[in-house]
Amino acid sequence: GLPARVRIYEVGARDGLQNEKTVVPTEVKAEFIRRLADAGLSTVEATSFVHPKWVPQLADAEQLFPMLDGVGARLPVLVPNERGLDRALALGAKEVAVFASATESFAKANLNRTVDEALAMFEPVVTRARAEGLHVRGYLSMCFGDPWEGPVPVHQVVRVTKALADMGCAELSLGDTIGVATPGHVQELLSTLNEAGVHTNTIGVHFHDTYGQALANTLAALQHGVTTVDSSAGGLGGCPYAKSATGNLATEDLVWMLHGLGIETGVDLGRLTATSVWMAEQLGRPSPSRTVRALSHK
Ligand code: HMG
Ligand code: MG
Repeated sequence: GLPARVRIYEVGARDGLQNEKTVVPTEVKAEFIRRLADAGLSTVEATSFVHPKWVPQLADAEQLFPMLDGVGARLPVLVPNERGLDRALALGAKEVAVFASATESFAKANLNRTVDEALAMFEPVVTRARAEGLHVRGYLSMCFGDPWEGPVPVHQVVRVTKALADMGCAELSLGDTIGVATPGHVQELLSTLNEAGVHTNTIGVHFHDTYGQALANTLAALQHGVTTVDSSAGGLGGCPYAKSATGNLATEDLVWMLHGLGIETGVDLGRLTATSVWMAEQLGRPSPSRTVRALSHK
């Protein structure tokens, strides 16, 4: 059966904006995040404390985060290393996410490390964050296919997922960074993870919509018992270090499907769509979300 409620983990302000050519003013980002929370999204990933030269779009994290005081949502931030954690802790962040790769090629491109060197970099971050009482998410990229290596063997994904769980990540997010997954592959990965002792209630899914499969993949994950789904308002996004990545699953498309299935999300679709239309104006290009287009042309 399907769950009664799904937690949407909104990534538009981070995964979305990190890949837009336009560098959005800090005040606009703050307004975007505030509006997403007001639309009922309970988790709104805010920014990344990464090297500013690696992701210039998010180089204003120090200015942005304090502007979010009083926003009524959980506001996780990405941290790749202890330097990033220091910066997040200094601003009072309560939730952080580390981000590993299932493939060597992407670990190198995104983190300048091998897969195992990256895990070694995260270990003290997770340990310290937990000691400080923070909630820690572990992302895993390239869980299905990789632009340099092609299809990614399931056992390779299971090994790194387990390493993140064993390290103390309370929540895992399986990333289809370049959007090549199909539903059977999703089911196979989830089953294999369960057999390896990773519980479904710790797993979230993170689909990009390159081949139009993100919603079908999400439904397959829901049928498997997953209740946390990552998406980005208006379908913003991609990843600057994986050229074939296009936008994330659009939150509006996700909400349309979930509400149609009678699944609660807490999201007001009208307010969310208005926010994405407003953000599209800021970026100077229309939202790729089919639901945003359908609802805004009514
Ligand atoms: P590096 O060049 O190997 O860094 O990059 P380093 O450790 O050698 O340090 C070099 C210098 O950078 C030092 O300064 C550090 O202090 C500084 P120096 O001593 O030379 O003056 N530095 C920092 N400064 C500010 N903040 C920091 C930081 N760390 C080091 N946190 C590094 C390694 C990890 C830093 C770099 O590769 C990086 O920042 N990568 C981030 C890339 C990124 O953000 N990618 C996008 C997010 S992942 C994603 O989108 C996928 C996801 O959506 C899921 C999916 O779809 O699959 C999550
Ligand atoms: Mg992503």
